[in-house]
Amino acid sequence: MLNRRFVLVRRPVGHAAAEDFKIVAEPAPKDEPGSIVVRNHYVSLDPTQLLWMRETETYMPAIALGAPVRASTVGVVHSSAAPGFAEGDWVMGLNAIEDYSLMRPDGFTMKIDVSKVPSPTNYLSVMGAVGLSAYFGLLLDGKPQPGETLLVSGAAGAVGSAVGQIGKIMGCRVIGIAGGPEKCRLLVERYGFDTGIDYRAKSVDQLAAEIQDALPDGANIVFENVGGVVFDAELKNLAEHARIVLCGMISEYGRQKPAGVRNIQEVLLRCASIKAFRIAEHVAEFPSAGRQMAQWIKEGRLRADEEVHEGLENAYSAFMRLFSGANTGKLILKIA
Ligand SMILES: NC(=O)c1ccc[n+]([C@@H]2O[C@H](COP(=O)([O-])OP(=O)(O)OC[C@H]3O[C@@H](n4cnc5c(N)ncnc54)[C@H](OP(=O)(O)O)[C@@H]3O)[C@@H](O)[C@H]2O)c1
Repeated sequence: MLNRRFVLVRRPVGHAAAEDFKIVAEPAPKDEPGSIVVRNHYVSLDPTQLLWMRETETYMPAIALGAPVRASTVGVVHSSAAPGFAEGDWVMGLNAIEDYSLMRPDGFTMKIDVSKVPSPTNYLSVMGAVGLSAYFGLLLDGKPQPGETLLVSGAAGAVGSAVGQIGKIMGCRVIGIAGGPEKCRLLVERYGFDTGIDYRAKSVDQLAAEIQDALPDGANIVFENVGGVVFDAELKNLAEHARIVLCGMISEYGRQKPAGVRNIQEVLLRCASIKAFRIAEHVAEFPSAGRQMAQWIKEGRLRADEEVHEGLENAYSAFMRLFSGANTGKLILKIA
C-alpha cells in the first residue's frame, strides 16, 4: 500500500514556488499501540500553511524539510490500535497532505458524524477550524450587539463570509472589503452584507475614504483577516472603543519583511482594543459551536461555500489560489 505525500523540500521565499514541493510515494504507515491509521479523503488548504513552511517557529513548530505539509484532514480509520476508534469511523484531525496518516489521537482528533451533514467536507469548512474561527472570533472577542457596525476584511473568503453572515444574524450593519467587483457583488447578493468595498489598486487614503462613505460613524467592530493597506484604511475608521479582532494578516504571509501597520495611533485615539484570536484554543468547543452553525445553515441564515479541487498532484496549484484571490469559499482538496 503506497502513501503519496506532498513534501516540503525547500523553504518558500515570498509566496511558495512549485519547486518548493515534491510528491513522494512511500509505504503506508502501520498502526502502533495507541494509534490509528487514517485514509485521508479531504485536506484543508489554508493561508497559515505558508507560515508553517518558514524556518522560524510560529504558533506551531515549523514543518521540517522532507516532511509532508501539515494540514487539517477528514478521513476514514483504516486500522486502529487505539481505544474508541474502529475501522471505518470518520475522523477529523491535524495531519498532513498525504494519503495515509498515522495518528495518535490527541486534542485535535475527533470522530465525526458524516450522516448529519450534506458532505464530510463541512468538517473542514463551516464545522471546522475556518467556520468556527468566524463563530468564536466574532462572538467571543468581537461581542457584537444589535445595531452596531461590523467591518470585515477578506470578506468574501471562508472566514470573512461567515463573519459577515453571523454579524447580520446578530443584528449588525456589516461592511465587507474584498478583491474585485465580482466578490463585492457576492458579498451583498449572496452573503447579505450591507455593502461591499473593493480594495484592489487603492491607496490607504482612497480606501479609507470609501469606508468612511459607507460608515460615517466608524466601525464598532473590525474583524481583520488581511493586514497591510486594508488594515491601515480600517484603522482610520474606528468608532470610539472599537473592538478589533485580529484573526489573520494574509497580505503579510508572503513577505520577507512585514509591510507593517502605520496607523496604529488610531487605536490610542479611539481608545480601541485589539484582541488576537487563535482557533486552536477552542477545539474542545467545536461540537457545540458546529451544531449552532449547522442550525443556521438549515434555517437558511448562513451560506457556507466550498471550493473543492481534486487530486493530491494539484495541491500546489490549488494552494496558490488563496494568495491570488482566485478562491471563493473554503478551499479543500479531495485526495481519495
Ligand atoms: N487566527 C486563526 O485561528 C485563524 C484561523 C483560520 C484562518 N485565519 C486567517 O483568516 C484569514 C482568511 O483565511 P481563509 O482560510 O478564510 O482564506 P480565504 O479568505 O478563503 O482565502 C484567502 C483570501 O485572502 C485574500 N487575499 C490574499 N492575498 C491578499 C492580499 N495580499 N491582500 C488582501 N487580500 C488578500 C484573497 O481574497 P480577495 O480576492 O478578497 O483578495 C483570498 O481569496 C487568513 O488571514 C487566515 O490566516 C486565522
